[in-house]
Amino acid sequence: MRQRKVKNRDAICEACAAWIADDPRERKGRWREAFADPSLPLHVEIGSGKGRFICEMARLHPEINFLAVEGGAKINVRILQKAKDYNLSNLLVIMSYIEDARDFFAAGELDRIYLNFSDPWPKARNAKRRLTHRSKLAAYEACAAPGALLQFKTDNDGLFAFSLDEIRSRGLLIRWVTKDLHHSPYAARNVETEYEQKFSAKGKSINCLQAVLSRKGGKNGC
Ligand SMILES: C[S@@+](CC[C@H](N)C(=O)[O-])C[C@H]1O[C@@H](n2cnc3c(N)ncnc32)[C@H](O)[C@@H]1O
Repeated sequence: MRQRKVKNRDAICEACAAWIADDPRERKGRWREAFADPSLPLHVEIGSGKGRFICEMARLHPEINFLAVEGGAKINVRILQKAKDYNLSNLLVIMSYIEDARDFFAAGELDRIYLNFSDPWPKARNAKRRLTHRSKLAAYEACAAPGALLQFKTDNDGLFAFSLDEIRSRGLLIRWVTKDLHHSPYAARNVETEYEQKFSAKGKSINCLQAVLSRKGGKNGC
């Protein structure tokens, strides 16, 4: 995603410092303590873009703590601005890319992971970079609390088919799947992302699935 330079990035970061989760590696296993109410479940979105989804979710669900993970330096400040505008006490932003979820999160720490319109990495040689590659799924499983869920949506039909295969290869239970989210029973609770708004405005149907991040009939390898 090509973005114009954010001129006043430093000033935005300073004004929104309360929402920046510094030193994410140091917080591994202690994320709950970073929030006003540590007793709440913890939901993470990896690749939050400008943060429409995660900020709206945090606003609608004060009973959940949310973490946005976004490495794009020209767009992650937009998440901070929204969090400040909404004065959200249940959202923090990790301002970096995450390669292996186990770098930032301890075993059993996450109650839900959202992947929304993840980069497709269309060339086969880059398949391992896709956020739904089986190696990434194994890392998510290792950080998942019992019964934790993975929710993934995308306009990209090829990436969606790939992701279903990867999820099945890990033996994860798929709770539900739709190839037309906006005309499905799951539409009522759907919160749209920036990319989702863009693609659905062009008439593209949205794929979505929800899977359980523990292996059918077995432990999740943490
Ligand atoms: C196609 S955009 C989608 C943004 C947003 N989720 C939406 O639906 O509007 C994908 C975003 O994921 C971010 N991203 C990709 N890989 C990531 C990673 N490993 N860790 C954090 N962010 C990542 C990119 O910087 C980019 O902003």
